[in-house]
Amino acid sequence: MPEPRQSRPAEAAGLWWRNSVIYQLYVKSFLDSDGDGIGDIDGVTARLDHIVGLGVDGIWLNPCYPSPNRDGGYDVADYDVVDPRYGGQPAFERLLTACHERGLKLLMDLVPNHCSDQHAWFQQAIAAEPGSVERGRFIFADGRGPDGSRPPNNWRSTFGGSAWTRLTSAAGLPEQWYLHSFDSSQPDFNWDNEEVRQLFDEVLRTWFDRGIDGFRIDVAYAMVKASGLPDLADPDGDNPYLWNQPGVHEIFKRWRAIADSYNRELTLLGEVWLPPSDAADYIRPGELNQVFYFDLLQQPFDARAFQLSIAETLDGLKGAEGVPTWTLNSHDVHRSVSRYGLIEAEPMTSPDANALRTRARGQVDIPLGIQRACAAAMLVLALPGSVYLYQGEELGLPEVQDLPDEARQDPIWERSGHTEYGRDGSRVPLPWTTGGSSFGFSGAGDQDAEPWLPQPAWFAEFAAESQSEDPNSVLNFYRRALQARADFEPDVEFEWLQTGREDVLAFRRGAIVSVTVFDGPSYEPPADWGSPLCTSRLDLPIESPRPAASTTWYRG
Ligand code: GLC
Repeated sequence: MPEPRQSRPAEAAGLWWRNSVIYQLYVKSFLDSDGDGIGDIDGVTARLDHIVGLGVDGIWLNPCYPSPNRDGGYDVADYDVVDPRYGGQPAFERLLTACHERGLKLLMDLVPNHCSDQHAWFQQAIAAEPGSVERGRFIFADGRGPDGSRPPNNWRSTFGGSAWTRLTSAAGLPEQWYLHSFDSSQPDFNWDNEEVRQLFDEVLRTWFDRGIDGFRIDVAYAMVKASGLPDLADPDGDNPYLWNQPGVHEIFKRWRAIADSYNRELTLLGEVWLPPSDAADYIRPGELNQVFYFDLLQQPFDARAFQLSIAETLDGLKGAEGVPTWTLNSHDVHRSVSRYGLIEAEPMTSPDANALRTRARGQVDIPLGIQRACAAAMLVLALPGSVYLYQGEELGLPEVQDLPDEARQDPIWERSGHTEYGRDGSRVPLPWTTGGSSFGFSGAGDQDAEPWLPQPAWFAEFAAESQSEDPNSVLNFYRRALQARADFEPDVEFEWLQTGREDVLAFRRGAIVSVTVFDGPSYEPPADWGSPLCTSRLDLPIESPRPAASTTWYRG
């Protein structure tokens, strides 16, 4: 079993974010230090050894600002502080200091497309008149039809239902409508409004001044809407008027200038669900540093599909200054173990194309899913660019598909009329120990509150504690792979290698060759690819021919 080690100084690899591995922290589900049933910032600080021991370069905290939590904190009521329920500013300061002492970077989540309906500005807007300055910060419009009872256009919310909600005046009369791309509790800001732009300039400065190392930017491609808010020809299809409008790039240039005005290396990472060629536009010189390439995450575990997606990403960089950022898991998709291990899918309908590709339910072969998820993780860890891991991925956690319906909290469940289960299954509090009332999630003992989402009994098998002791566990696989990756030469050329097999992918990066066998019989790589260095199948001798659902690295 490898010894837990200090994270490598990220600066050793040039601009730290270009090759970094970042651990995504869904704070509410990581560790509950005060026994109230929700994870908190002191819980993260308490378990920093677990994160450092993995060998990552930093952490990204999902939103932990004050919020009614109608959409897991992506409904922000105040951008300037950490919610006291997560420990507030003192806990945040403790975590930031501890991270920097351990050589870890810390990224926050910026949510600029919308706020919570409890944000002071929205409360002012609903109290104000149509046409007022207060309403001008959001997207209000009169309804259609003689009595204004039809929404201003036919756009649909990503979470289901109309993208518009009608206000009722203090006197109980129906009045204007406001746009929300997501839940009705998340009004979209009007990014044509200079006050909105200034608000976020200040938010960036506030957190940069406090010492954070960058932001992950929520739905970064959505802020600017097509002018005139035109009706869609097919309201159930994709909405090109809501995403990827050219004006959004002006905002990133403005933010990049702010980031560059600090005398340290900050990163701005966009959440952009676009095809690789469009995603590349977001990391042009002077714009964002990084953008998530979600295309790979949406592919099945198939050699051809992986190769096409990776090739399209790398070929399409178009002189970008930034780097591709890879991820196979997040709080928005089903865990990779369950996606890749799905052997019989249930029928599913959704207006959201991403949901169809990333949140299919059904019967899962978990051992197969784990082998494939580890093989896929190791493949992306060898690619050029940065990699984001999502908490629980290092334990090989499957998706919790069998949450009781009454426990579900994702607004998708209600807004879809209970046709789509949503994203709660990847957000269940982590199992740390094999026993205890919450598998060690709630730190204070038996009197603790129930975890905010119930953990299934089978979580015991995935506890970090027992995996740490097992040399062949998924946890020790991640530790070994990250340890090996830390010695890779950064920013070296990428080259596909011929394998003679359609179900085997291989590529070279400098001295390293990565070989993934997706399917079929075992594969013997040519001797001149080097000596085996690390594999995703810790249970088999690394010298033997490589089995299906495995990745192995060779050093020449
Ligand atoms: C992003 C977040 C997701 C959230 C949505 C609306 O996609 O990752 O969790 O629901 O934005 O803020």
